[in-house]
Formats: sequence, structure tokens, C-alpha cells
Amino acid sequence: MPAIGTPLTPAALRVMMLGSGELGKEVLIALQRLGIETIAVDRYDNAPGQQVAHHARTLAMSDPVALRALIDAEKPDLVVPEIEAIATGVLEEMEAAGQVRVIPTARAARLTMDREGIRRLTAETLGLPTSPYRFCDSLAELQAAIDGTDATSSGHGQAAIGYPCIVKPVMSSSGKGQSKIDTPADVARAWDYAMAGGRVAKGRVIVEGFIDFDYEITLLTVRALGADGRTETHFCDPIGHIQVSGDYVESWQPHPMSASALDKARTIAKTVTDNLGGLGLFGVELFVKGDEVWFSEVSPRPHDTGMVTMITQWQSEFELHARAILGLPVNTQLKSPGASAVIYGGVTAQAMVFDGVADALRVPNTDLRLFGKPESFVKRRMGVALAFDAEVEVARQRAKEAASKVRPRKLD
Ligand SMILES: Nc1ncnc2c1ncn2[C@@H]1O[C@H](COP(=O)(O)OP(=O)(O)OP(=O)(O)O)[C@@H](O)[C@H]1O
Ligand SMILES: [Mg+2]
Repeated sequence: MPAIGTPLTPAALRVMMLGSGELGKEVLIALQRLGIETIAVDRYDNAPGQQVAHHARTLAMSDPVALRALIDAEKPDLVVPEIEAIATGVLEEMEAAGQVRVIPTARAARLTMDREGIRRLTAETLGLPTSPYRFCDSLAELQAAIDGTDATSSGHGQAAIGYPCIVKPVMSSSGKGQSKIDTPADVARAWDYAMAGGRVAKGRVIVEGFIDFDYEITLLTVRALGADGRTETHFCDPIGHIQVSGDYVESWQPHPMSASALDKARTIAKTVTDNLGGLGLFGVELFVKGDEVWFSEVSPRPHDTGMVTMITQWQSEFELHARAILGLPVNTQLKSPGASAVIYGGVTAQAMVFDGVADALRVPNTDLRLFGKPESFVKRRMGVALAFDAEVEVARQRAKEAASKVRPRKLD
């Protein structure tokens, strides 16, 4: 790792962030504080992270030619993917040619951009417990997977996924195109919804058996260099969260777990992050029922539910990521229990105005992030309220109260 130098001089250590939404913005701020020169890339102008970086570049990161040209021109020391929709083939080629270092690795970025890559690795190669699943390319295949009438290449039938189950486009995030199927009458609707909601017109879905979990957590897991130069794995306290239609609305930390479930969760997280390799923070999503734990998915980068760590940890998930990727030591200790609650746009508009901010911040022990997104949609995440308290339940109530007091509206 080259030494940290002086931004905007030939001595600078330069980091390129691919994706500059609210999560990328916080990583960029953490990097800025450590004296890194930052380049914020997004597909639209004035993205949140572009507003706090030294350089802003607007580009379709899924376009391999454009992405390669940008990296060639900027020659960053590190490339940090912050979103999934990236031409990861270019990153793999440039990493293999020694032209760039990708966080955590180009392979991790490729495997996690597609539900198939990461699911086959974790369930089939690593043998981790997951929901039963199948990949389907048509409505007929989907129905056959649910009924168990599809055949494997060896001609044997497979266990039926059954009802209820969940259908998701293989390329999608934040619940887009995802729906639950309770009865045969829902299957065609779920297929159509997935086709409309996927990131690329590819027509491939995963159908997963529904796990009737007691709760779900994100286990933030950090791979960072120790004093001896070897990579060490650190865990944050488990983050509990609530998802509505596959999108996070509320999170809190710590979430209580039995010693046995926590031990299994950490073992799963270590297994998958060891395999993905590199340095940085990962968000490992797990389902828990009693002492049973299932792997769901992993982000090789800060996780939206982890925004709560901006108020609960000495080093937020963003600071942990920034430190880890730079080869610096990390501290995952909890500062106080706390919670986060999402603030949605509520309206479709540009140049939003936020009323009630002072009222929100008058709720005791709260804080706020307004992301500065140039355009709002009804269900677009525009900000987050944070609260701390010795009691997680009190923090949850206060975060929700603060979030509810922020009222986004159109400019008159
Ligand atoms: N097999 C399942 N059984 C039960 N619930 C599920 C299952 N798969 C997904 N869910 C629910 O849907 C949520 C979103 O699913 P998933 O994380 O796979 O999608 P996503 O679009 O990547 O979401 P995000 O980007 O917000 O993490 C999960 O957090 C969980 O609440
Ligand atoms: Mg998820």
C-alpha cells in the first residue's frame, strides 16, 4: 500500500468510488478525513458522494468501455465499488493485469452483483445453510421449480420449493422486482413483477423457499491488517432490522442473540468473507430462528442497515471500511445501543425542501443525515434518523419519531 500523501499533489493517495449514493458519501467523507484524494463516480450528476469528493465523474459504470477509459485516465490507487451494477469484467481484467487494486477484490464484486454467483458459492461450494432455491428462465420453469416437477441434468426430479416462496430477479437490490408467492394464483404475477424490476433485461430469477425466521440480522464483518501484516477478521455487534417489500425501513444495534446463534453467525460470516478475500467491511445478511442460522446474502461493502453505526459505534461502518481498505487498524467496539429509521421522499420532485428538521433534532439523543439527492421519488431514501439510548427500544422509538418529523415537500 502506498503511503498516504497530500491530496491534489503528485504525492496523493487516490481512491475512486464507483457509486456515490448515501453509503458512498459517508465512505468518501471518512477517506477525506484521512487525507485521501477522492474521485466520486455515479451515473447521474450531483450524486450525494459527488458533493463531498475532490472530483466528480458521471458515467454509466455498467459500460465496460467507458469504465476502463475512466480508470485508465484517472489511475487511482484503489477502486472501491459501492454499488452492484458495475462492469465487473473490466475490474477483473485490470486487477489481473496489475493496473488497479479493487476493494475487496474484483472477484468479490463480480460474485455479489448477481444472486446466482454468490448463492452458488455459499450454498454449493462452501456448504453454508441457505434457503432452498432454484434459478429459472421462464414462467414455466418457475412453476416447475415450485412444484418440484423440473428435472436435473441427470434426469432426477428435485425437491419442490413449495409455498410460500420468494421470487427475485438475479440482478436487483433493495427489493426491486421481488415478491412473495403464497398460492399458485400468485405465480404469474410474481414472474411479471420480477421481469419489470430486474436491473438488466435478462429474464432470470431465483426462487427461494420462505424462511419463517424469528429475526434477521446484518453482521458487519471487517477484514483488516493486524500489526503483523496478516489479515484479521473483526465483527461488529449484530444489527437487527425490519424490511418492507425487501427494502430496509428500520435498524438497531445490538440485536440480542443466543451464544450458539451468534457463534454460528460468526462462523458463516468468516467462511464467506475468507473466501471473498481482500480488505474491507462486508455486510453479511443472516436469518435466525432459535439457534438455527441461514446465510441470505452479503455485500462486500458497507450495508444500508449499518447506517445505525454512525451513532452506535466509535468507528462507523464507513470509517471501518475506509481504514480497512487503507491497511489501517480498526476498532469495532459499540459506543451505545441505538437505532436508525429511514426518511422517504414521499413525493416525486426535484429540488426538495425538508420541513421539520429542527423538530426532529429536538427529539432527545438523535441525529440526522439528509443525503442531498437531487431528485426524490415516493419510495426513494432521502435521509435517515439516528438515535442512541441505553435501551434499544427507546432508541427505536426516538429514531422513528425523529424520522416522522422530517417532512419532504416540493419547492413552492
Ligand atoms: N428466502 C427468504 N425467506 C424469508 N424472507 C426472505 C427470503 N429472502 C428474502 N427475504 C426477505 O426480503 C428481504 C430482502 O431480500 P434480499 O436481501 O435477498 O433482497 P435485496 O433486494 O438484496 O435487499 P437489500 O438490497 O435491501 O438487501 C430480506 O432481508 C428478508 O426480509
Ligand atoms: Mg438484502
